[in-house]
Amino acid sequence: EVKRPVPPDIRARKGGTPLVVLTAYTTPVARLVDPHCDIVLVGDSLGMVVHGLPSTLGVTMEMMILHGQAVARGTAKSMLVIDMPFGSYEEGPEQAFRNAARLMVETGAAAVKLEGGVHMEETIAFLTARGIPVMAHIGLTPQAVNTLGGYRVQGRGEDAARIRRDAEAVARAGAFSVVLEKVPDALAREITNAIDIPTIGIGASVDCDGQVLVVDDMLGLFTSFRPKFVKRYAELGEEADRAIAAYAAEVRARTFPAPEHVFGEKVPGK
Ligand code: KIV
Ligand code: NA
Repeated sequence: EVKRPVPPDIRARKGGTPLVVLTAYTTPVARLVDPHCDIVLVGDSLGMVVHGLPSTLGVTMEMMILHGQAVARGTAKSMLVIDMPFGSYEEGPEQAFRNAARLMVETGAAAVKLEGGVHMEETIAFLTARGIPVMAHIGLTPQAVNTLGGYRVQGRGEDAARIRRDAEAVARAGAFSVVLEKVPDALAREITNAIDIPTIGIGASVDCDGQVLVVDDMLGLFTSFRPKFVKRYAELGEEADRAIAAYAAEVRARTFPAPEHVFGEKVPGK
């Protein structure tokens, strides 16, 4: 049996073979991604991807815990990280600790992820000092969509200094890794070279220390919108549409179920 990586193992992968990270929200999908990943992330993207919410703002602790438990049942070799939902950590370190501990205890996740840089430095240090490993998330932070004014690239031009400061702050605070979302390629590379914790890119740079994608995006299952950084490795949505149309046609034509799908009387002694 392979030993699951723990946060210090992930941190030690800085500059090494890139870290492979995907999201999962259910047990069957966790079973599919687990053999191939270093980290499986229960992302709050589940609000949009699984629950049809317009943003991640409506995601609750209860939703994260329920999906976290489902994903935990499907992982064996990868490390489980769970997102802290909007409103569960921003008030201050003590609120963050209370909710992070609950997420970890009730799901078995090895670490939490939270959004924010400089303004989360104190909280990340507080959690880390008390036994809660933190993956940070800077650049485009979707929970801040209303203050950012949309899902635009962050850190272009003059704004690069802000993202640089965020990266330095979360590394200083003790985060074991940091997600860089939707920042220019060159900035992501520069930050990766400047800080001593692994950077995990999404719409960032091939030179990050790892990459993450939303699994439904890369499988072509979530098609409501498609950011430029999503590569479709499959078109399961189209495949599913074909299968469901075939089922509907066969039901209407009374060709499903066929003889091999129905039961006769039980033959005694057989
Ligand atoms: O919620 C999520 O899926 C995420 C990843 C895209 C990093 O935060
Ligand atoms: Na997230």
